[in-house]
Amino acid sequence: MKGDAKMTCDYKKGFADQTKEITVSSLEVEGVIPDWLSGTLVRNGPARFRLEGKTLNHWFDGLAMLHKFDIANGHVSYANRFLDTPALRAAKDGKMKYGEFATDPCGSLFKRITQVFTGSTSGANANVSIGKIAKEFVAQTETPLPVAFDIDTLKTIGIISYSDELKGNLTTAHPHQDQGDQFNYLLSFGRKSTYNVYRLSDGSKKRQLIGSYSTDRPSYMHSFGLSQQYLILMEFPLVVNPISMSVRGKPFIANYTWKPERGTRFSLVDRQTGEVRYAHTDEAWFGFHHVNAFDNNDHGKIDLDIIVYPDADVVQYFYLNSLLNKRNQEAYPKNELRRFTIDVSAGTVSSRRLVDHSAELPRINYEQCNSKTYRYVYANGIARQGESAFLDTVVKFDLAGDIKEWRQDGQYPGEPVFVAGPDTQSEDGGILLTVVLDSTANNSYLLLLDARDLSEIARASVPQHVPFGFHGAYIRS
Ligand code: CO
Repeated sequence: MKGDAKMTCDYKKGFADQTKEITVSSLEVEGVIPDWLSGTLVRNGPARFRLEGKTLNHWFDGLAMLHKFDIANGHVSYANRFLDTPALRAAKDGKMKYGEFATDPCGSLFKRITQVFTGSTSGANANVSIGKIAKEFVAQTETPLPVAFDIDTLKTIGIISYSDELKGNLTTAHPHQDQGDQFNYLLSFGRKSTYNVYRLSDGSKKRQLIGSYSTDRPSYMHSFGLSQQYLILMEFPLVVNPISMSVRGKPFIANYTWKPERGTRFSLVDRQTGEVRYAHTDEAWFGFHHVNAFDNNDHGKIDLDIIVYPDADVVQYFYLNSLLNKRNQEAYPKNELRRFTIDVSAGTVSSRRLVDHSAELPRINYEQCNSKTYRYVYANGIARQGESAFLDTVVKFDLAGDIKEWRQDGQYPGEPVFVAGPDTQSEDGGILLTVVLDSTANNSYLLLLDARDLSEIARASVPQHVPFGFHGAYIRS
């Protein structure tokens, strides 16, 4: 047996249900919160994994809960609320009624086809990320049904209706922003499936189609890249035949198969003209999170940085059955931060490893560096490569070569959100906000780290645990 069994199994508490909704006006703070930090961190993630006396299949399946940390004058308040969706209401009646990422209540064939091709029976369990559409904050997932909520009370307002005719079955919970525009795509399943790439201007609910292209085997993609010129869809060979999906009776992701012989295709949609260019590598990669992309003005090339795995086994790794019954022999799947350089006119791709250290939930100084050259990446890492079973550190990758790390025994930090400090000139002059599970005390706390050296600034304790979630957003006061 490798490593310290006790320490590496403690993470399982992060998958325990949290059904208690609380409001705490002032959390106990250790350390000193800087005066300039004034705003709200909202986080999204699953909080209930057990329904009808059964455990859902996958980390991504749990019912969405919002968590909010208001920071002002050195104080922090906390509140958490379930997102009030059809999925939650069915759960309150003791039922699982809607298909999730990897769990399906096994509806009739007709119902399934309806669900796949219209999305109309989705439970809108938007448990992945936080965004903003028009004036409303939204919880987002991969079905295109963002759920609006009130930022002050965390009360659910309802599913956003767009004022356009664009339709699709799938999207990403990772839209990009640039200069007042939001970018994302809608995938429409069919005999030929279509990616519809769109722009949504600030304050608007009308999505404008930028460009489209079709494919016979859509890829499972959790995010995409954005450079100044292109949206870049990195189509991993984890693909689905949408026609058989509608009849096979399997949960959503179980319909996708790993076909490494297809290699990896990059589809580049010009942000201005909508023209689509393609590039291809025979290498098979899989990933969830793009980190950044930028036009490399040297001969019309694009650099695209993404955390990649050599295959899609990580999807299996996140099944709760695997995460909760693991007896410590299996380590977190190895991945790496890799740079793909795309020669747009030749349609060719070369790549090199930037950092050889497994990590997930990456963030950058987005406001300053999105779609531009940059130097620093913050993420959750693995304390002991090849041994730790779950993400248990905060790491900072300096692409010039250095790695910094924050870790403490039995502590499991989540996605580190970068907040720029008063000196907005420097790329890493700011604070990282991360919610950490203390597996010993069985509660969580908001941890503030100096983004320059990952030294601890302060922590604010929540009187209960916050289950492992995915993404959050910081909103300045
Ligand atoms: Co994500």
